[in-house]
Amino acid sequence: MDIKGSLATYKIVKTEDGSVTAHSGLFDENCHSTSGAWDETLYNYISGCNVIEKIRKQSKLTILEVGFGVGLGVYVTLKEIIKDNPDNLKKLLFISTEIDRDFAYWALTESDFAKEFCIAPNDIQVINGHFHVTIQGAKLIVLVGDARETIRDLKEYPLLDCIYQDAFSPQKNPTLWAIEWFRDLRSFSSNKVIMSTYSSAMRVKKAMVNGGFFVSNRQGFGRKRTCTQAFAVAPKDTESLKLHQQVINSQSIPISDETHTKTK
Ligand SMILES: C[S@@+](CC[C@H](N)C(=O)[O-])C[C@H]1O[C@@H](n2cnc3c(N)ncnc32)[C@H](O)[C@@H]1O
Repeated sequence: MDIKGSLATYKIVKTEDGSVTAHSGLFDENCHSTSGAWDETLYNYISGCNVIEKIRKQSKLTILEVGFGVGLGVYVTLKEIIKDNPDNLKKLLFISTEIDRDFAYWALTESDFAKEFCIAPNDIQVINGHFHVTIQGAKLIVLVGDARETIRDLKEYPLLDCIYQDAFSPQKNPTLWAIEWFRDLRSFSSNKVIMSTYSSAMRVKKAMVNGGFFVSNRQGFGRKRTCTQAFAVAPKDTESLKLHQQVINSQSIPISDETHTKTK
C-alpha cells in the first residue's frame, strides 16, 4: 500500500516481528529496521530512555521524538505505560516532529496506532499548524515542519526528560545529527534527560558531545553491535568516562551545519 504524503510517497513495509514501517520516497530509507519495527522501538527508545522507571517516579514526563514516521514511537510508549499502570498516562506529554504534514496526518488517523486508539479526525486540533490530540489522558503534539525550526516551539512546554533521536541516517538526514541540533536539544532538556538513538557512529557521538551531552555505549538492537545513550551530566562508570575521552580525542569530524552543507 502507498501513502501519499505532502512531500513524497511512502510504501508500507512489513517487518520481521509482524509490525509495519514505511519506506520514505523522499529520503529513500525505511523508518525502522526490517528486523522488527515494534521491538526496535521498544528497545531503542522506551527501554533506552528508561520511560517506565521515570514515569513511575515523576509527577509529569515530557518526551520528544525526532521524527513521527508511522507513529510507532508514541504507539509503543502508550502500550507500555498502559501495561505498567494506565493511571500514569495522564502524566505524559509526548511531543513529536514531522516534516511531512500529510504523512503525519495519515499516521494520526489511519495507521495501526490510530486504529488501536480510535483516533478520529475530530479528535485532532490544529493549533499554529501543529497537531494536538489527547489519548486516554496522555497529550500528543506533532510539531509539523522542519524540526530545526519547530524545535523553537518547545519553549512553551516543560523541559525534556527523554529524547527519542530517531531521524533517518546521518548520511540522509544530516541536519538532525549536527552539533547545532544537539545544542538546541540540550537547551530544552532537563538535567536528568536521557537521549537514546540507534546510531553508534563516532561523528554522531562527537556532535552530541560538542552539543553539550555526555555519551555512553549500549548494546545495539538486532544486527547492530552497539547504539548510543546521551545524558546532560557525566555518567560515573569508568567505561563512559573512558568513552568521553575517546570521543574528545578522536580524529573523526563531527557532523555540523558547516560540514553537511559542504558535502551536499
Ligand atoms: C526514521 S523515521 C521516524 C520513525 C518514527 N519514530 C516511528 O516510530 O514511526 C524519520 C522521520 O523523520 C522525518 N523527518 C526527516 N527530516 C525531518 C525534519 N528536518 N524535520 C522533521 N521531521 C523530519 C521523516 O519524514 C520521517 O518520518
